[in-house]
Order: sequence, then structure tokens, then C-alpha cells
Amino acid sequence: MKDKRLSDLQTLVSLCKRRGFIFQSSEVYGGLNSCWDYGPLGSQFKLQVKLSWWQRMTKRHDIVGLDAAILMHPTVWKASGHVDGFSDPLSDCKNCKARFRLDTAPEKDGKTVCPSCGSGDITAPRNFNLMFKTHMGPVEDSGAVVYLRPETAQGIFVNFENVATSMRKKIPFGIAQIGKSFRNEITPGNFTFRTREFEQMEMQYFVKPGSDMEWFEKWKSERMAHYADLGFDPKYLRFKEHGPTELAHYARAAFDVQYEFPFGWQELEGVHNRGDFDLTQHSKFSGKKLEYFDEAAKEKFVPYVIETAVGCDRLALALLCHAYAEETLEGAAATESEKGEKAGEKTEKAEATRIVLRFKPELAPTQVAVLPLSKKPDLQNLGMKLRDDLSASYRADYDESASIGKRYRRQDEIGTPFCVTVDFDTLVDQKVTVRHRDKMTQDRVELSQIKNYLTEKLLSF
Ligand code: GAP
Repeated sequence: MKDKRLSDLQTLVSLCKRRGFIFQSSEVYGGLNSCWDYGPLGSQFKLQVKLSWWQRMTKRHDIVGLDAAILMHPTVWKASGHVDGFSDPLSDCKNCKARFRLDTAPEKDGKTVCPSCGSGDITAPRNFNLMFKTHMGPVEDSGAVVYLRPETAQGIFVNFENVATSMRKKIPFGIAQIGKSFRNEITPGNFTFRTREFEQMEMQYFVKPGSDMEWFEKWKSERMAHYADLGFDPKYLRFKEHGPTELAHYARAAFDVQYEFPFGWQELEGVHNRGDFDLTQHSKFSGKKLEYFDEAAKEKFVPYVIETAVGCDRLALALLCHAYAEETLEGAAATESEKGEKAGEKTEKAEATRIVLRFKPELAPTQVAVLPLSKKPDLQNLGMKLRDDLSASYRADYDESASIGKRYRRQDEIGTPFCVTVDFDTLVDQKVTVRHRDKMTQDRVELSQIKNYLTEKLLSF
């Protein structure tokens, strides 16, 4: 078998729509730019991505969870620097009227030019704040202004003391949170890579000043280890350090984890050493001291923060890109005749290519599909009962439409690791055929042993 990586994002966009992963938002009204809805398979897949991150973080005894509100006191965003500094410089082209970010526009003969028409006749930049503003309550005056949070992190900082006290947490410890964030991005795009509404998975790890760079390195390694466990090939991941001019106002050190998407190397996650910036700012603006008292050393200090911040949608997109494979089947695989068919009936065509999503089983929206060979009531009943039994332990589905070959291909395309075929022999010998997604090999398994078989195979996948 030869594999082709995904080279064109549009191919994935089509697959996601065709198979119920991701749809354009408000499509019946012509769609809303850069907003996406996760369909039945996409929402399950995204949930698995979140669970993987959440469990990895919170199974540690030094990390606890949080679910803060999206709307926060407006002073939070003054303190964090977002009201004054969370903006992009926007210019207008006087020639073609395009509006663009000045810092990403090309240069010609030492002069910045319009990225659309190349004209040098552009306006001086104006700062455009990326936060979405709205009003709380019925009166739309300036006193009622609130923002949709542009990052989940601030909910963690303002709850630092609540969490430390209620959970009796000793430093070092972390707070993990998953939730929606909103940014009025000027150039959203590349499917779900950059959108205006997205979910973040952020963890703030509070440490003693002086130990921060050691923890920074530990968290860099831990995040890469998680990506390897999710099935990424390390050759498509790398760290990119932020140089002194690229560092955010709060950061003492920052590395991006980058993934090689079909549209190039791009940031997947940020690992930041935020020092004591956030707790100090919230102490200053709230008038409440946010300090930690180290009982052993009998000293007070403002903890430093190591942050790991990844977009859930962006990670889901990277996983979809990475799992996608267009396989050229050769030899036996190309003429795969699935066992479980009636003798002499070749329902799987001798196709030379197939599309497969090679998800790790814990991420796959469906882990096992039960496929009766025919719609005869005996096989339907047996198949549905098996699906119900398996659903207690796995994400199981049942499909009786179309030929067995087409059903295998459909399950390949949504990344189902195992298909279980119920055939006429099953009624006699109480055995089923299990077909493996990646190698396309098959095993005949006793019905009474199917759960043990799947558990063992899923664990050793
Ligand atoms: N609290 C720090 C913070 O928010 P960030 O680098 O601005 O840092 C962290 O965002 C991660 O959130 C990014 O690495 C990316 O995965 C995701 N992210 C940021 N903006 C996004 C957007 N417009 N659409 C999708 N994901 C986004």
C-alpha cells in the first residue's frame, strides 16, 4: 500500500461535509463567513479531542479543572491589557478599497503595498481591537459594555485564589479549562484554522519564581509527548521560538508548537512563561492581593505562570489533516474480497484507491460498526443486538445500507477502526468477521469473545 498525505484543504472540507463532520454555519442562508458547525461525527470527534486533553491534564494530582463564565467584569480586560493592546494595525487601499493588516502586507522597493492590487497608495494604519463588544442588560450605554472573552486564561487568573483556597492547593499546581473564545479576526480562514468563534484548551501552571524556566521546559516536553500519543508523526511537528520582537506583552519566553498543515507550518499551540504579569495586574486593578504564602519557607510571593494554550478546533483540524490518507492499494489489498460474503459474491470492487482517516481509536467518532451482510430479518436482528451490546463499551454503530464494499469504504472514510460483519454462517457457527481499518485484514471471532477481542485490539492499536 502507498499513502498520499492530504495536500489540498478543500478535499478535507468536502469530506467533512459529505460525512457529517463539519458544515458551513447557517448554510441555508448562504453561510456565515469563518463560522462552522460540527455535525454528528464532528461533534463526537471534537468531544474526544477535548476529553483526551482534559483527562491528560486533570488526571495529574497537581492540576484541577475550571469552567469560568464567558462574560467577565470589563475591568478584567483593562488589567489584562486587551482593551488597550489587543489590536491589529489596519490600512485601507485607496486604489482598490481593500482593507488589510499592515503588518502582514508585502513590500515593494522598501514601501508597504496593498496585498490585493500592489498599489502603494494606502492609508496610515488604525488600530482595530479584536474583542467583540456587547451590552449587559437592557440599556446600551457605555457603563453596560462587556466583552466576549478573547481567551479563557483570564478566567483562571481571577479565580487563582478561589481555587488555591478551596482545593488547598500548594504550589506548583495548575488550573485547566476548556471553553469558547471570540476574536474579531481580520483575516480568518483555512477552514477551522482561524475563526472568530473557537474553543481553547488552556492550562495555567503556578510556580515559584526562579523555578519557572525549569517548568517551562517540562511543559514543552509534556505537550509534545501528548501530540505523539495522539498519533502525530513527530516529523510534522516542531517548536518555533518567539524572538524578542515577537514576544507578547505578558511573556518572558514563548514557543509555538507548529504543525505542517497542507497550507504550511502553522502554530498549533503556544507555551508561554507569563511571569507574574497577570496576577500582578489583577492585584493592581482589583485592589486584592493575589499572593501565595509558602508555609515551609514562611514567605509570600506572586507566583509565576507557565501557560499551555491550544485551540481545540485547530487541533481537531490538524488531527483530521494528519489522519487523512489516500491509499493506493496493490496486489491482494486492491482485490480485497471480504470474508463474510456469500460464497462467490465479490461485493468489494477491486478498487485501486481508498480514502481512510487513520484516527487513534480513542479519537474515532465510531469505534466499531456492525454490518449485516444482508437485510434478511435474522441478520438484522442479530446485527442490531450486537450493536446494542457493543454500545455499552464502545462507540458502536450499525449500517445495513448499500453493498458491503461500499459500507467498508464509508467506515474507512470516517475512521472507524473495526467493522464487524454478521453473515449467514454466523447464524450457524456463532462467529463474526472483524475487519481492520488500516491493514484491511480479517479475523473470524466467536460472538461470545467479541468484546474481549475488541478491547484487546483497541488497547494495543
Ligand atoms: N492565553 C494565551 C492565548 O490565548 P494565543 O496564542 O493567542 O494564546 C492560543 O492562542 C491558541 O488558541 C493558539 O495556538 C491557537 O491554537 C488557538 N487560537 C487562537 N486564535 C484562534 C482563532 N482565531 N481561531 C482558532 N484558534 C485560535
